[in-house]
Amino acid sequence: MSWVTTFFTSSLGRKLVMALTGLFLILFLLVHLGGNLQLLRGDGGVAYNHFSEFMGHNPVIKVIAYGLYFFILLHTVLGIRLWLANRNAKGRKYEVHTTENASFASKNMAILGLLIFAFLLIHMGDFWVKLQFNEGVYDTVRYEGMTHSITDLYTGVIASLKRPAILVIYLLGFLALGFHLWHGFQSAFQTLGLNHYKYNGLIRFLGQAYAILVPLGFALISIYIILMK
Ligand code: HEM
Repeated sequence: MSWVTTFFTSSLGRKLVMALTGLFLILFLLVHLGGNLQLLRGDGGVAYNHFSEFMGHNPVIKVIAYGLYFFILLHTVLGIRLWLANRNAKGRKYEVHTTENASFASKNMAILGLLIFAFLLIHMGDFWVKLQFNEGVYDTVRYEGMTHSITDLYTGVIASLKRPAILVIYLLGFLALGFHLWHGFQSAFQTLGLNHYKYNGLIRFLGQAYAILVPLGFALISIYIILMK
């Protein structure tokens, strides 16, 4: 067995990969929220469409995006495997851990992760699949001074988020995301050994603030769009 196989099949190896991919996904969420906040500028989508055009065509961003899809899958698969391993271990006599004092989030990380994954399948099916494989599904637009047209993703996003069923699915997804991050953020630092009694309080505070503010930001965008004329 090569060291790579040994690493990925050991519980510690899996946890380290979960932590690193989790931190990458946390960074992605911040960029994604920043991009989507452009929807609220009230400029008819000029800034949002320019931002999406840049993100969709820049070669460096494209490579990072493929890394992102791979990390989402890796994080999900390893998470399920760790959850199954923990569940099997609980049946054994020598298992002494107790989860009585654990938070709702830490006890339900796997189910929360699966809910987020289900949200992602719906979300990426709605936008990403159309952008990648259904050329022409969105209109194009050419702003003053431009030599070529770009995709009018803004109009597509507004049309999608104006559907009440999508709003409900999104809000449930953001809620699951908030709980998952509540535990996941600080847990990633702990797994990587980046914890010190001096900084633990700060890491916990940053993690909890992130877990509230980022999903809340996404929720406010969705609610703003459905209420918008
Ligand atoms: C108001 C909330 C949100 C809006 C309006 C939104 C909008 C979009 C749009 C329009 C795309 C397609 C852009 C593209 O592929 O170039 C996209 C892609 C994506 N979204 Fe979201 N999103 C939201 C929340 C979220 C959340 C909470 C997550 C994660 C839990 C997420 C994860 C993703 C991923 C992984 C992609 C594919 C990334 C890429 O290819 O660039 N989104 N989103």
